[in-house]
Amino acid sequence: MAVSARRFLAPPVLGLLLLLIGSGRAADYMLDVRDGLGREFDGIGGLSGGGATSRLLVNYPEPYRTQILDYLFKPNFGASLHILKVEIGGDAQSTDGTEPSHMHYEDDENYFRGYEWWLMKEAKKRNPNITLIGLPWAFPGWIGRGEAWPYDFPDITAYYVVSWIIGAKQYHDLDIDYVGIWNERSFDSKYIKLLRYTLDKAGLDRVKIIASDNLWQPISMFMLLDSELHRVIDVIGAHYPGTHTVEEALKTGKKLWSSEDYSTFNDEVGGGCWARILNQNYVNGNMTSTISWNLVASYYEELPFGRDGLMTAKEPWSGHYVVESPIWITAHTTQFTQPGWHYLRTVGHLEKGGSYVALTDGQGNLTIIIETMSHNHSKCIRPPLPDFTVSPQNATFYVKGPFSKLSTLQVWYSKLDFKHANRTLFRQLAPLKLTGGAFSLELDVDEIYTVTTVTTGQKGFYPEPPKSQPFPSRYQDDFNVRNPLFSEAPNFADQSGVYEYFTNTSDPGEHVFTLRQVVTQRPVTWVLDADQTISVIGSYSWTNMTVTCDIYIETPETGGVFVAGRVDRGGSPTRGAKGLFFWVFADGTYSVTVDLMRKIVLKKGLAGVRAHEWHTLTLHIYGHFASGLLNGYPLWKDVFTVGSRNGWAAIGTSSFELAQFDNFSVEAS
Ligand SMILES: *[C@@H]1O[C@H](CO)[C@@H](O)[C@H](O)[C@H]1NC(C)=O
Ligand SMILES: *[C@@H]1O[C@H](CO)[C@@H](O)[C@H](O)[C@H]1NC(C)=O
Ligand SMILES: *[C@@H]1O[C@H](CO)[C@@H](O)[C@H](O)[C@H]1NC(C)=O
Ligand SMILES: *[C@@H]1O[C@H](CO)[C@@H](O)[C@H](O)[C@H]1NC(C)=O
Ligand SMILES: *[C@@H]1O[C@H](CO)[C@@H](O)[C@H](O)[C@H]1NC(C)=O
Ligand SMILES: *[C@@H]1O[C@H](CO)[C@@H](O)[C@H](O)[C@H]1NC(C)=O
Ligand SMILES: *[C@@H]1O[C@H](CO)[C@@H](O)[C@H](O)[C@H]1NC(C)=O
Ligand SMILES: *[C@@H]1O[C@H](CO)[C@@H](O)[C@H](O)[C@H]1NC(C)=O
Ligand SMILES: *[C@@H]1O[C@H](CO)[C@@H](O)[C@H](O)[C@H]1NC(C)=O
Repeated sequence: MAVSARRFLAPPVLGLLLLLIGSGRAADYMLDVRDGLGREFDGIGGLSGGGATSRLLVNYPEPYRTQILDYLFKPNFGASLHILKVEIGGDAQSTDGTEPSHMHYEDDENYFRGYEWWLMKEAKKRNPNITLIGLPWAFPGWIGRGEAWPYDFPDITAYYVVSWIIGAKQYHDLDIDYVGIWNERSFDSKYIKLLRYTLDKAGLDRVKIIASDNLWQPISMFMLLDSELHRVIDVIGAHYPGTHTVEEALKTGKKLWSSEDYSTFNDEVGGGCWARILNQNYVNGNMTSTISWNLVASYYEELPFGRDGLMTAKEPWSGHYVVESPIWITAHTTQFTQPGWHYLRTVGHLEKGGSYVALTDGQGNLTIIIETMSHNHSKCIRPPLPDFTVSPQNATFYVKGPFSKLSTLQVWYSKLDFKHANRTLFRQLAPLKLTGGAFSLELDVDEIYTVTTVTTGQKGFYPEPPKSQPFPSRYQDDFNVRNPLFSEAPNFADQSGVYEYFTNTSDPGEHVFTLRQVVTQRPVTWVLDADQTISVIGSYSWTNMTVTCDIYIETPETGGVFVAGRVDRGGSPTRGAKGLFFWVFADGTYSVTVDLMRKIVLKKGLAGVRAHEWHTLTLHIYGHFASGLLNGYPLWKDVFTVGSRNGWAAIGTSSFELAQFDNFSVEAS
């Protein structure tokens, strides 16, 4: 892995001589453009979605929400991202929840659902040049006409995706720059060509296509064998490429991106992983863009991949958030380069571990980023990296050609440190004076330096946010007070199905404003979604609780709904969720189960609930026992509980069916 950089500069004899002199010497690295430039740089990005990773962000109170967005998107402030990639919601579970589709049903169209529109607008507000990308993880069921497959009717799928792009412009004035195929699932050449044709026909020839958001193969091989496919794909996007590409991908001559990467807990390991791949994706794999999954860890931490974002903002109830090290690691690149700059050809590995890249705007600006991340700090969750060593080393960089006249360069520095004793994040050091077009650095392990002509770098700053607080133990939502920007009630994290605000103006009484589950058909899923729908809320550490909710079944005979407590999982294992579930059905029965799939029944009987009537369910869980009330009267009591000991509260339905919920409350300990 530690390829010597000397091959760029010194004849073998000189190298041998240097080796003989021993360890105190500095290795030399030439930076030059005389042999031409490397590839065009396309930017560093963050991914909101895949799925529901920004769920809690939208409900942050001001000024904290603005601050978080500034740390992510504001130029010369924090991560100053060049790219925002979002999920095109598909009504199905896509890792940490579901995101709503703009077309739940064939005759349905609505471009105001979810929070991705809002997020894209907030990003654009801060950086009008930010690149926008959309990618589906799943599709509503009607797209597949009952099949779990989106390519049998490729014209319908293309129409659906292009509608999203047109809606972005029409309703939000957002220009989507790139669109993908189907995240980490199979692609279909006929569909990709039809997508291009449909985009062009809609006057969207400026929208480029990324494929296939999976591995380098087989897409690269398909492109080499099919010139029409080769023509319509602009970028090959691979996920978690481990900094490497394959020969066939290079042969296509296309831009190569790591269109999803990182996915690592955002402590010192995550920061080191991110620093390493931001450089080495180009050095080892010729990739000119890297996109972080995910943008911001704004989902309950006990969902899959908790805290795998560039920063953490998962407490809208307290306003607490944490600007984690990956924000400042990102700044080392993003604040000193822009899409459209070019890499120099003289990039590579450092002699004793680590790497360096250099980029230029072609108008005299030069930015060099050097990282020396050791194994401990740079282990990325996927894929496991082979062991490698990094040791302290001295390095001398020679800037040649048009850069040889530079006399000073700005320096920004970070050091990662598990004990935080010597941790430094994105600090500006005294400018370097160049002598004879050269400068030297004493590089320790786990450091990152940016050495640059760019003078606009800044470490943005806001006062400490409020302290971390647990989710409030008494919580109530009657769904009457709404934020018109959002279609979802705060803090409810849908894990199957979609729960939206609903207004029934013909309701004569208290249920004009409700929350409604709206997915009526199993989606073309991305993972093994549950057959039931469920939305979780609260604290995962809750043990005893009383959950009360008014419920309205809309499907006669077969419909059913539940309230639950101690729900122990969401994400793609949601179908295996355990807890305590209190169900009522339109056939007049009730049951108490340990699991969402209703395999372990603790109690069942008659309740007399019917569709199209409002009822109040109360679930009371205390220690080893639980009781249930219907409309305030005991229905079952002192049932001995087994299964999970703690978890979220939840509401849900027994199938993909319409149902409404109102006046939700929970009191927990
Ligand atoms: C780097 O150079 C300094 C100053 O010449 C020297 O003291 C130090 O030992 C060198 N470090 C390494 C790792 O070679
Ligand atoms: C956007 O890009 C243009 C052209 O590259 C540049 O002049 C302008 O300064 C950029 N704006 C921001 C906010 O970065
Ligand atoms: C890929 O990167 C390597 C190492 O920087 C370089 O030698 C090679 O020319 C690049 N290949 C292409 C096709 O860009
Ligand atoms: C670094 O990694 C080594 C080997 O994996 C381990 O023994 C050591 O404890 C780690 N150090 C820290 C600070 O985590
Ligand atoms: C911090 O840095 C100082 C000076 O470089 C060094 O002596 C000390 O051992 C470091 N402390 C830790 C905990 O790494
Ligand atoms: C480099 O970028 C800066 C902005 O930081 C700009 O003002 C300057 O003109 C550019 N060119 C050179 C040669 O520094
Ligand atoms: C709206 O309220 C009216 C009057 O109570 C009722 O008949 C109707 O079913 C409700 N619609 C829905 C979708 O709940
Ligand atoms: C839960 O309730 C049981 C029974 O009332 C009680 O013994 C236990 O201490 C409670 N646990 C918590 C965390 O409040
Ligand atoms: C809503 O629920 C709370 C607590 O369960 C109760 O006090 C209140 O009366 C209910 N409101 C309505 C409109 O049902």
